[in-house]
Amino acid sequence: MKTVMEVMRDGIDEQGIRRAGDILKQGGLVAFPTETVYGLGANALDETASAKIYSAKGRPSDNPLIVHIADWEAIYRIAAEVPVQAKRLADAFWPGPLTMILKKSDEVPLATTGGLDTVAVRMPANEVARALIRAGGGYVAAPSANTSGRPSPTTAQHVAQDMDGVIDMIIDGGAADIGLESTIVDLTDGVPTILRPGYINEAMLAAVLGDVEMDRGLTADDAQIHPKAPGMKYRHYAPKAQLYIVEGETDLVRERINELTAQHAARGESVGVIGTDESSACYHGSIVKSIGSREDEGSIAHHLYAILREFDEMDVSVIYSESFDTPQMGQAIMNRLIKAAGHQIIPV
Ligand code: TXA
Ligand code: MG
Repeated sequence: MKTVMEVMRDGIDEQGIRRAGDILKQGGLVAFPTETVYGLGANALDETASAKIYSAKGRPSDNPLIVHIADWEAIYRIAAEVPVQAKRLADAFWPGPLTMILKKSDEVPLATTGGLDTVAVRMPANEVARALIRAGGGYVAAPSANTSGRPSPTTAQHVAQDMDGVIDMIIDGGAADIGLESTIVDLTDGVPTILRPGYINEAMLAAVLGDVEMDRGLTADDAQIHPKAPGMKYRHYAPKAQLYIVEGETDLVRERINELTAQHAARGESVGVIGTDESSACYHGSIVKSIGSREDEGSIAHHLYAILREFDEMDVSVIYSESFDTPQMGQAIMNRLIKAAGHQIIPV
């Protein structure tokens, strides 16, 4: 299959959006920019189209998709119940990087929800995304547009690395603003529960909802407690090299990473280091990449997946990363980094 690249970095191109919408209506696949990461879109109400997403990504069929909408009213067709908290959250955070889990209506095929009787719904802030959703019929199922298990794509070039020749079209809207997937909150089961941390954090949700909990499967060390979002149990975002997070007091972390680097170098192995603008110059004997500045946590979230992909292109056998426990997005950044590292943390 030839994958068409439509460039819309300066905003919506009406003709391009019409072509993309037609592909969706005919059951095809279009990757598109959102403010979080790039999505791989298909008509969410067409089970054959949804099924194509799973095969393009190599995604396990029990891992449900998020349905993207462009207008609030669209929610009533796909949700069997719309609790008052959903409206409050939408007023506060939509369009934006928040996904809500609701009871699904019969219109949503089980192929889209991985067999669940609930549906994940999000209204993205990106204008190109919303124009595409409207042009494609109003309901676009879209996981992140990466091959299953690879870091999520934050540019159209990342999408092309994984999906060229496999999908009908990629819309290039430039780099995603945030760079981490949306916060997921479950509204179907008692106290609203965060199933995946994101840009919108627990305190921001609590300010609107009052009560909100973290899914225990996200925080528990006990492997018997499974996360509620099926996708959160898979090892995600895995770089090719072994990744370790070195955690502790700043100076000790830098010292330890240099010691470890020296040990690998003695064995003739090359090492990657994920540091920051503040620390990069402190590392020796390794390939050092700055993820951003500790003064600007947005820069850290924005570059995380791109850095993991860059290291995949390089010949390093091991990567050491600093830890990034930042104020607003720290929980989300560390959730993704710890998954990428397969929970390998070195305390100092
Ligand atoms: O920011 C985002 O959410 C991006 C962009 C493209 O919108 N999409 C995204 O989709 O991250 P994906 O498929 O990579 O992650 C969706 C997550 C998975 O962990 C999945 O298990 C969970 O949402 N999920 C989807 N539907 C669910 C449901 N009904 N109940 C529980 N978890 C659900
Ligand atoms: Mg994903």
